[in-house]
Amino acid sequence: MKNDLLLRALRREEVSRPPVWMMRQAGRYLPEYQELRKKYDFFTRVQTPELACEITLQPIDIVGPDAAIIFSDILVIPQAMGMTVLMEEGKGPLLPATIRDERDILKLTTDVNSSLNYVFDALRLTRKTLDGRVPLIGFAGAPFTLLCYMVEGKGSKGFEKAKTFCFTRPELAAQLLQKITDATIVYLKEQVNAGAQVIQVFDSWSGMLAPADFDRFASPYLLQIADAVHSSAPVILFPKGSSYALDSLSAHPSVSGIGLDWTVKPQTARAVTQNRVALQGNYDPIKLMQPVDNIQQEVHQMIRDFGTTGYIVNLGHGILPHIPVDHARAFIDAVKNFKS
Ligand code: CP3
Repeated sequence: MKNDLLLRALRREEVSRPPVWMMRQAGRYLPEYQELRKKYDFFTRVQTPELACEITLQPIDIVGPDAAIIFSDILVIPQAMGMTVLMEEGKGPLLPATIRDERDILKLTTDVNSSLNYVFDALRLTRKTLDGRVPLIGFAGAPFTLLCYMVEGKGSKGFEKAKTFCFTRPELAAQLLQKITDATIVYLKEQVNAGAQVIQVFDSWSGMLAPADFDRFASPYLLQIADAVHSSAPVILFPKGSSYALDSLSAHPSVSGIGLDWTVKPQTARAVTQNRVALQGNYDPIKLMQPVDNIQQEVHQMIRDFGTTGYIVNLGHGILPHIPVDHARAFIDAVKNFKS
């Protein structure tokens, strides 16, 4: 491994500088990705290992982060469980037949790996092509976030339908969340067998839950996944908007890292988690629209605030399509030229 900064940060070892990568770094802000987007539809890009590998490596060559994240999507799990998932260009995901009752849940399969070989092939090819340049991150959506899409059927501001399902039919919600968890565990273990060196679980919508509801509908499943996977690879949880859960999640020994959005103060996150986990984040991605000098100054301050040990520089959520490539590179370069 030529650059193992991410792995060392997750073990909270001393590093010369913290590692940096960006959520959604493989994607639409890169003109090279836009070129492939003209030729192949979304699921062709995801399901063709050579394309997924090429897209995964684009940011490594163009902006130079310290980790690669495999190009795929969280919705491949609902798809492999038997649901129809469409990606409408410019609009986002659409699941035309949503989960409404127990019959719909019983129809879902947890035997997902046989239809996800394209992900494992993409990981093997990417790991080989990377040739140790940087570690390779595999990922999945968290059970609660996947439930949101499976019940709501599409993206939404408040996921009212999905939350109503949870609050009015909690036993059914538990049944669905457990089934997603079972599928996700076999999927992530196979990602590690295929070459993923770190696993991140995206709970993009957990922040819509009150703390007590997070403890019912999100946390138990996140922790089951961490417990099942951590002996194979370090696990980073990203419960967006749920900083109230930092204390309980960080107390769990199978969690190596926690991703933070920008609403959390670095010093507070450190105090609450007491060096039990590595912290990752949390630059507001929209701030990448500022002049590059401001980006550099703010990144340096953010590193001083978090401290260099057990810290992974990242955005507080995914990079946006209209961010200039130069500004994404400035974010990464600021970390590389940081002197403590
Ligand atoms: O991080 C990476 O670079 C790896 C690739 C990756 C994608 N999706 C590719 C993608 C990852 C890690 C994801 C995760 C994902 N997918 C999440 C969790 C992270 C987050 O942002 O909260 C979620 C909620 C999804 C579901 C999803 N997929 C949505 C809502 C959309 C449409 C809107 C959007 O954000 O682009 C997608 C499509 C998608 N997945 C695109 C990409 C590059 C854009 C579609 C395109 O390029 O045509």
